[in-house]
Amino acid sequence: MKHLLSVTDTQDNILDILEVADKLKKDPWGYQTLKNNVLGMIFEKSSTRTRISFEVGMLQLGGHALYLSKSELQLGRGEPIEDTAKVMSRYVNGVMIRAREHSDVVKFAENATIPVINGLTNLEHPCQALADIFTIYQDKKTFNVHLAYLGDGNNVCNSLLLAASLVGMDMTVISPEGYEPDVMILEQAKEYAQTSGSKLKVANDVSEVKGADVIYTDVWVSMGDEEEVNQRLKMLSEYQVNSDVLNLANPQAMVMHCLPAIRGQEITEEVMSCGQAAIWDQAENRLHVQKAILSILLGKK
Ligand code: CP
Ligand code: NVA
Repeated sequence: MKHLLSVTDTQDNILDILEVADKLKKDPWGYQTLKNNVLGMIFEKSSTRTRISFEVGMLQLGGHALYLSKSELQLGRGEPIEDTAKVMSRYVNGVMIRAREHSDVVKFAENATIPVINGLTNLEHPCQALADIFTIYQDKKTFNVHLAYLGDGNNVCNSLLLAASLVGMDMTVISPEGYEPDVMILEQAKEYAQTSGSKLKVANDVSEVKGADVIYTDVWVSMGDEEEVNQRLKMLSEYQVNSDVLNLANPQAMVMHCLPAIRGQEITEEVMSCGQAAIWDQAENRLHVQKAILSILLGKK
């Protein structure tokens, strides 16, 4: 693995990442393997979890992280992303980038001579999905589970499909027409599923939640989709994770949300605060899994 731009980049080492994350979680300050390493973090969009967990993660590994807002870089005034990548490669040991367009992250990586990590784009959120399958495995001790994703087939859903299909987890995406996951990603996930044995399904009917072991949702209006807010709230209103939906799932089902959440839209307060919600563990695990990713990508010089 040279970069982590998509979950597909982990196809040969996804289980290694989870194993390293497990080790690091048990002793957060015990592995200072990235001393004298600096991670540049470019943000074109807001962030709480990604920013803080990468920054704290680098500190715990003995290194340092730089927060760089796109609007304050020359990148925000039109300096080409190719030039930014070339220059940053001379200063830092790795870059984490959150961008609107996935193609910008790919372009950055093509021009960088250091590892590049996707911290969310319009197409994928690989760090999130890896932390999510780690959270599921820690709770269930197996990947032999059925995850039902309800709502917008967005970046988080795309990365989850790839991650589930790599580890042999079953996944059903339940979305209204027009809000299904990316077609190319689904094709790739189906290809992985042929080897891993995952059963993947895309459906429109909420009753497909029946018997699920994990219920997952994300916001209906992702960053960048704000202009479509009215249309989205209307189209997605039937897909809320509430107690009726929870009652359709397996009685032990975990509830997951990548956060930030909008209570009363994609999820109710009641479900968010119920004993089945694994949401806070999920947020914590971003730290441990990203440290594993950093150790693997930056540590192999
Ligand atoms: N889940 C997630 O990526 O959160 P942030 O947008 O706060 O980083
Ligand atoms: N789908 C959401 C995830 C936020 C972490 C977004 O892209 O805004």
